[in-house]
Amino acid sequence: MNQRTLQFDVLIIGSGAAGLSLALRLPDSVRCAVVSKRGLTEGNTLYAQGGISAVLDSADSLESHVADTIKADAGLCVESVVRMVVEHGPAAIRWLAGQGVAFTQSPPTGDSHFHLTREGGHSHRRVVHAADATGRAVETTLVDRVRQRPNVTILEHHIAVDLIRQPGQNPGKCCAGAYLLDLEADHVVSVAAPCVVLATGGAAKVYLYTSNPDVATGDGIAMAWRAGCRAANMEFIQFHPTCLYHPKAKSFLISEAVRGEGGRLLLPDGTRFMPKYDERAELAPRDVVARAIDHEMKRLGAECVYLDISHQSPAFIEEHFPTILNRCLELGFDMRKEPLPVVPAAHYTCGGIEVDTHGETDIPGLFAIGETAYTGLHGANRMASNSLLECLVYGELAVERIMQRLSDSPADVAVPHWDESRVTDSDEEVVVSHNWDELRRFMWDYVGIVRSNKRLARAKRRIDLLRSEITEYYSNFRVSNDLLELRNLVEVADLIVQSALCRRESRGLHYNIDFPETDPDQAEPTVLIPDNYTPRPETS
Ligand code: FAD
Ligand code: SIN
Repeated sequence: MNQRTLQFDVLIIGSGAAGLSLALRLPDSVRCAVVSKRGLTEGNTLYAQGGISAVLDSADSLESHVADTIKADAGLCVESVVRMVVEHGPAAIRWLAGQGVAFTQSPPTGDSHFHLTREGGHSHRRVVHAADATGRAVETTLVDRVRQRPNVTILEHHIAVDLIRQPGQNPGKCCAGAYLLDLEADHVVSVAAPCVVLATGGAAKVYLYTSNPDVATGDGIAMAWRAGCRAANMEFIQFHPTCLYHPKAKSFLISEAVRGEGGRLLLPDGTRFMPKYDERAELAPRDVVARAIDHEMKRLGAECVYLDISHQSPAFIEEHFPTILNRCLELGFDMRKEPLPVVPAAHYTCGGIEVDTHGETDIPGLFAIGETAYTGLHGANRMASNSLLECLVYGELAVERIMQRLSDSPADVAVPHWDESRVTDSDEEVVVSHNWDELRRFMWDYVGIVRSNKRLARAKRRIDLLRSEITEYYSNFRVSNDLLELRNLVEVADLIVQSALCRRESRGLHYNIDFPETDPDQAEPTVLIPDNYTPRPETS
């Protein structure tokens, strides 16, 4: 079959807040592609509820946002990065509003006309939002904008398979493009580009219960790792304390803003329990709240706990939480009148591919932005609503380095075609579906909110076995969406477990009953180095 090669200046893999904001900030002269493995809007961004943190009120300060982030991060974040991201916050929000995002307004107070809500870890109201569907407002607005850009080619229903590396002008190998499986035409396309940006989101789908949509399979992290990039802090998986507990809900999130606006966590007998765990009670950082819920559920053998905001007026709940209210009503719960059953679920990947302050990875020309990246902002626990902020800020910070790389690169590069001469159609799809289920279940049971050395070792043995089966399958059969995602999930699971085994203490989101204390001597990120790693040459 004749194979296509597409040529771009910048290939952006992922169409969430990170990928789209970068695409919109690149000049019109740059030939850019935005790739999404489903429709353009699908991804974590679409489902974000609470909002985006930024200092927009005169009673608040950048220092306070920095201090809250560092406190929530449990001693592992990089202060200079926190400061840089926080300082870029107000302009990022104004940029989004300028793109047309309709944030909830409030009567003018101080210098802010945005209504600001509150979430765990924040000592001020500083979360800008569009009611309780902030992600939908951001994603649909940016998608509309990007579709109008003549320099941007949109490739929906294309899943990136792997990156292409080639000898470059610098010593070592540069990134030269990627292979994409066109899911509608069912064949692999080669894409050549001197700059490739992984904006593929997180990996929480590696757990059985998650707030994330199906696309969150850690593809960018796995691809970059295979290509030779370092991965950092992968043990820090954030479990959101409050997902709706209902068999049909598929882990529907109940925003932290519900607790920010006075929601209380209750045991099945109606007793409030958070004050005994932390003086900030329901507004303690997520690691504290999720662990407290997990502890109470195990102690009582309860299937869930309850979140109650029924003391607020129905009008208040209808105005602030229309999406949550309606979804809960569909499932038979009226939060205006009764507590909601909730459980924790995997929510956010704090670690990822290590990048510098321009979002560039260890490989020249390869960038990672958004949830895929480890920038140093989130440390051992991400503070609520700092994630969308990071996506927007790095979508801006990457532009300068990309333009520099483009000016140093030849306009077009040649890349090898995808070779499928040695594979056939699969005759045993059941291997893929079985391994998907098995992996997600043992990750939940052994590598969840509370870990132990024994459980981690068990998980590692199972991962090694699955990995060998999947590698064999991948070498023999044509690629499919499910196979590619499973291959990436196993890679990411391995990175999580390896990192968890390296950390011989408990800190932030990583809690190991064999090392229950925090050890001040281990206040360093966990950095995993692949066998094919070569340090990136200095960038001027
Ligand atoms: P995403 O928005 O996840 O986009 C990833 C993109 O990559 C998608 O387009 C996907 O199709 C594509 N992709 C992935 N792999 C491939 C591949 N192999 N090939 C091609 N395309 C691929 N954060 C906040 O700050 N505030 C909030 O209020 C908030 N609420 C949240 C609520 C929920 C329910 C969830 C799940 C998350 C929430 N978060 C929130 C976290 C935040 O939404 C995410 O961290 C953020 O949206 C990630 O954006 P992103 O651009 O990095 O990735
Ligand atoms: C939420 O609305 O609770 C999610 C906020 C976040 O993940 O930052």
